[in-house]
Amino acid sequence: MKAFTFKKYGATDVLNPEILEKPNPKSNQVLVKIHATSVTAGDWRVRSATPFPIRFHAGLLKPKNTLLGHEFAGVVEMVGEEVAEFRVGDRVFGSMGMKSGTYAEYVAVDVESALAKIPEGLGFEEAAVVPIGFLSAYHFLQKVNLQPKMKVLIHGVSGSVGSAMLQLAKAKDAYVVGVCSSKNASWVRKWGADQVISYEREDFAQLPEKFDLIINAVGKTSFREIKHLLKSEGRYLSNDAALADYLDLLTQTLRGKKEQIIVGIAEQKKEDLAVIQSLLEAKKVKPYLDRVYRFEEIPAAHAYVEKGRKAGNVAIQVA
Ligand SMILES: NC(=O)c1ccc[n+]([C@@H]2O[C@H](COP(=O)([O-])OP(=O)(O)OC[C@H]3O[C@@H](n4cnc5c(N)ncnc54)[C@H](OP(=O)(O)O)[C@@H]3O)[C@@H](O)[C@H]2O)c1
Repeated sequence: MKAFTFKKYGATDVLNPEILEKPNPKSNQVLVKIHATSVTAGDWRVRSATPFPIRFHAGLLKPKNTLLGHEFAGVVEMVGEEVAEFRVGDRVFGSMGMKSGTYAEYVAVDVESALAKIPEGLGFEEAAVVPIGFLSAYHFLQKVNLQPKMKVLIHGVSGSVGSAMLQLAKAKDAYVVGVCSSKNASWVRKWGADQVISYEREDFAQLPEKFDLIINAVGKTSFREIKHLLKSEGRYLSNDAALADYLDLLTQTLRGKKEQIIVGIAEQKKEDLAVIQSLLEAKKVKPYLDRVYRFEEIPAAHAYVEKGRKAGNVAIQVA
C-alpha cells in the first residue's frame, strides 16, 4: 500500500513516500481502507520533535513509529472474527489516540478504540478532521460544568481544538467570546461566536468583563496573563499549557484551589466519539475545513499547518 513515512525528525522533507505491507487485522480489529486523513498540530510537532520532550514518547533519537497521522475516515474492508459492531462496507471514522499510522492506504483499528460510523451526509474529508479536535475539546469541557449563559472566552478559537470548543460550548448555550486574528474573525462569527476579538486590534486582557471559563486553545496565553479576567469561581483550561501553567497549578493546589486550573492530555475515547457522532447527526456541531490536500502533498500540508494560522482543519485525500 502507498504510505508517507519519516525515519528521522526534521523539516517537511523528512516525509517521504514509501510502499508498505497492507496490515492484517487481528481478531478484535477492523481493516479500514482510508479515504481521508488530516494534518494536525500534533503531526507537525511529532515530525519535528517540537518541543523536545515529545521524544520521550515518540522516540529519543529517531521516531519509533515511522508512520504519522492520527485520524481517519474510510470504509471497513475486513473484520476480525470477534468483531460484531462493524461490517464490511461500513463508512467509519476515528482517532488513533497516542498511536499514529493514518498516512497510508489502510489501517488496522481496535474496535474498542475511538471508532464509529460516519453520520449520514458527512463526506470523508469532513469526517476525517472530526476526531482529534472534537474529542480533545469534549474531554476538557467534561471537566467543567458548563451551564447556559455562562461566559466563556476562547483564546485561539479559530484552530482545530478552538473551533470544536466553540461549538460544544454553544451546544450548551454558553455565551462565547472568541479571540483570533482579523483574518479569521468572520469565520469565527459564522461558526457561532457571540463576540469576536481580533488580537491584532484589541488586547483581550484589558476587557472589563469577567468570565466563568477561559480556554487557552493554542498556547498563546497563560493563567498568569488572564487570571484577573476570571470570576471568583471561574476556571482556566488549557489543552496547550506551558510550564508556567503547571507551576501555577501546583501553587493553586497548595492553596486549596486545585479546581481552578485544568491542563493535561486528552484521552480519545470510543464513548466520547459516540457523543460527537450524535451531535453531528443532530447538526449541533460540524467540522470546518480550511484546505484539502492530495496524498502526495502531505509535506506541503505540513508546511501550511506548521505556520499555525489555519482556520479549522486541514484534510488529506487518500483515495
Ligand atoms: N492536550 C491535548 O491533549 C491536546 C489535544 C489536541 C491538541 N493539542 C495541542 O493544542 C494546540 C492547538 O491545537 P490545534 O489543532 O487547535 O492547533 P491549530 O489548529 O494548528 O491552531 C491554529 C490556530 O491558532 C491560532 N493562533 C495563532 N496565533 C495566535 C495568537 N497569537 N492568538 C490567538 N490565536 C492564535 C490561529 O488563528 P489566527 O490565524 O486567527 O491567529 C489558528 O487558527 C497544539 O499545540 C496541539 O498540539 C493538545
